[in-house]
Amino acid sequence: MNISIIGTGYVGLVTGTCFSDLGFQVTCLDLDRQKIDGLKKGVIPIYEPGLENLVQKNARAKRLFFSTDTKNTVKDSDVVFIAVGTPPVLSKVGAADLSYVFDAAKDIAESLEGYTVIVTKSTVPVDTAKKLEAIIRDVNPIVEFDVVSNPEFLREGSAIEDFMRPDRVVVGCRTERAEKVMRTLYQPLFQLETPIVFTSPESSELIKYAANSFLATKITFINQIADLCEKCDANVNDVALGIGLDTRIGKKFLNAGPGYGGSCFPKDTLALAATARDFDVPL
Ligand SMILES: NC(=O)c1ccc[n+]([C@@H]2O[C@H](COP(=O)([O-])OP(=O)(O)OC[C@H]3O[C@@H](n4cnc5c(N)ncnc54)[C@H](O)[C@@H]3O)[C@@H](O)[C@H]2O)c1
Repeated sequence: MNISIIGTGYVGLVTGTCFSDLGFQVTCLDLDRQKIDGLKKGVIPIYEPGLENLVQKNARAKRLFFSTDTKNTVKDSDVVFIAVGTPPVLSKVGAADLSYVFDAAKDIAESLEGYTVIVTKSTVPVDTAKKLEAIIRDVNPIVEFDVVSNPEFLREGSAIEDFMRPDRVVVGCRTERAEKVMRTLYQPLFQLETPIVFTSPESSELIKYAANSFLATKITFINQIADLCEKCDANVNDVALGIGLDTRIGKKFLNAGPGYGGSCFPKDTLALAATARDFDVPL
């Protein structure tokens, strides 16, 4: 299968490189010509252990390509991943800015030829798949396509290992045709007995936000327990160990410290709260 990836940032580059390493023909696309020119010469714009070797190996094997030509790449693709950014908007507290995702969908819609599966890897709020279906149908009323949600759970610093040996793969799709394509894509991981959760796009979209928000909550929880420990002569590291050994709780994300940060937790927790307000279920 031919795969194209719209957005060659952290997620797009890792996803594209790993799928090419699994044997697919992949083209990573970006609007940033300088980034694409650099990647064609083997210059990797981010530091991620093992990524440089994997990019160079698959580019040499002619499975991994880089381009700015969305139109011609998408028309020959069986699967198109959207991996563009979804930062917070300034106009509405916490809500995710979907303008990059919608622009990418319009670019894709104009170029589709033949049945294509369009997959959101970007972290997007519930109902985005429905909105993408409407945008694509509006621009290109006759083409056959499915929109699938396939959120990414990789951690920066161990992104390749997380892609190749994930705890689970989550796929939200509505048709058997799209499910078959997604099963073929992830077949090499299923052979390693990776659990796969097939569900609706709406559940899949919510799984990503719920997962990040749960992990952020664990960090915040242990920090509040740390504040209490400082007042009552308890040791938060011992408390974390004592509760974390309970398999229902788990040891990870129970390190008291400065709080959560990074590129995803702050925006994703705010976006989940914004979505909940939209549905009149404040969290
Ligand atoms: N970084 C992470 O650890 C991580 C993990 C899981 C999920 N995510 C999610 O994945 C998404 C992407 O995150 P990222 O960190 O890879 O973003 P990023 O900012 O590193 O990359 C986005 C890329 O998309 C390109 N782009 C934007 N619009 C485009 C268009 N129309 N056509 C082609 N290219 C376009 C930009 O030039 C940029 O290079 C976000 O929704 C994020 O929340 C990120």
